[in-house]
Amino acid sequence: MESLRIISEEHRNLWRIATTIDQVADEMAGGSPVDPAFFHSIFDYIEQFMDGCHHAKEDDYLFPALRARSAEAAAVLDRLQAEHRNGPELLKSLRVQLAATAGGSLGNAAFAEALRIYTQSLKAHIRTEEKDAMPLAREVLTAEDWAEIDRAFLDNEDPLFGDKARAEFRQLFHRIASLAPDSIGLGATSAGQLQPGVTSGPGDILLKVAGMESCYGRIKALKGIDLEVRKGELVALVGANGAGKTTFLRTLSGVQPMSAGRIVFDGDDISKLRADQRMRRGICQSPEGRQVFGPLSIEDNLRLGAYTQPKTQVAGDMEKVFTMFPILKEKRHLPAGTLSGGQQQMLAIGRALMGRPKLLLLDEPSMGLAPLLVEEVFNVVKALKAEGMTIFLVEQNAFAALAIADRGYVLETGSITLTGTGQELIANEQVRAAYLGM
Ligand SMILES: Nc1ncnc2c1ncn2[C@@H]1O[C@H](COP(=O)(O)OP(=O)(O)O)[C@@H](O)[C@H]1O
Ligand SMILES: [Mg+2]
Repeated sequence: MESLRIISEEHRNLWRIATTIDQVADEMAGGSPVDPAFFHSIFDYIEQFMDGCHHAKEDDYLFPALRARSAEAAAVLDRLQAEHRNGPELLKSLRVQLAATAGGSLGNAAFAEALRIYTQSLKAHIRTEEKDAMPLAREVLTAEDWAEIDRAFLDNEDPLFGDKARAEFRQLFHRIASLAPDSIGLGATSAGQLQPGVTSGPGDILLKVAGMESCYGRIKALKGIDLEVRKGELVALVGANGAGKTTFLRTLSGVQPMSAGRIVFDGDDISKLRADQRMRRGICQSPEGRQVFGPLSIEDNLRLGAYTQPKTQVAGDMEKVFTMFPILKEKRHLPAGTLSGGQQQMLAIGRALMGRPKLLLLDEPSMGLAPLLVEEVFNVVKALKAEGMTIFLVEQNAFAALAIADRGYVLETGSITLTGTGQELIANEQVRAAYLGM
């Protein structure tokens, strides 16, 4: 049922786009100007992605199989497919209204209203597929049906939805993010410019934590954590608010006392080392809530991340960070406090990178960000992994984290309750109920 996973992932992307449109519509209704380039980038994306790929896959492979196996499928599929056929018309009409708004013959409020009606229908469509069509497919399709559908969905050479098409969608998405207003966008390209590096497979163990305990007064916040991270891996630690995720990261980086347990990093027991000594060995953290130094310039914030490094490499490393996050270069002399939330998150990650991490610790990088930016931040994490970086990602946003993780651990009130590959955890009923809201 790999195909259903792919469809759900695409639904989440479309949902993010719809939420972004709603947000911009609200701002427009409140008097913000209309940016035609931004809207065209969104419409282009939806057109190519949804009409050209997402719907085509469903119409050609999933729905026919479903019709063949279930008589009751016809009613809902007829409606969904009518909406598929109608999709391009709706977009065309929105483009006409956009032109009218930009030309002054249609008011901002009227265009905002048309956008909201569109996103409502888009969301209703996604909901029907997720709540009606997909459960039915799970129930009635046979293993042979799935084999055939999955084969089509996973065909990486397919011109419609293979790797090449995906790369194009990614570019279209970056265009949206780069044109989005400051309130929701980065105002610049980010992960799109990263060079994809060598993908190093899971290698030797880099970090091994055994029986880690940590307390606040008499309260034990960590009750004996065992976990490991291999070189090149992206490992996610997910759990609800208050589970102990931040405490774990702080204990690992040495700013929080460990009352029991052992940490072995890169072959050495570092349990007794101070925080700065651990950082020198390559454990670098982007802290929860970003914590950039607001009054200091962006450049100075980055320099702070390199305080354990030889001076000679700082300028070169800063250029690398700027290549990843051009917006930071553009604003390098401005106080970090002037950056938007998403940009500050990029700065916090950039600052951690300045320490030349062997293990990059990220504490809830998606916290408090608009959906579009959550996507961008996770793109950055993916790109770093593709470069071979070993990453330990802590998130409440379990789905997004597990979706990109090689492996994951679930933390509940100070104990690890589940572990497995990212995909195993996403498929796990307990995890779905507790964290994914499904
Ligand atoms: N400075 C502190 N003093 C006392 N208790 C704390 C402190 N920081 C966190 N806690 C408690 O420790 C538990 C774990 O918190 P935390 O590690 O911040 O969780 P998470 O990052 O998963 O949200 C929570 O019950 C929290 O109330
Ligand atoms: Mg936390």
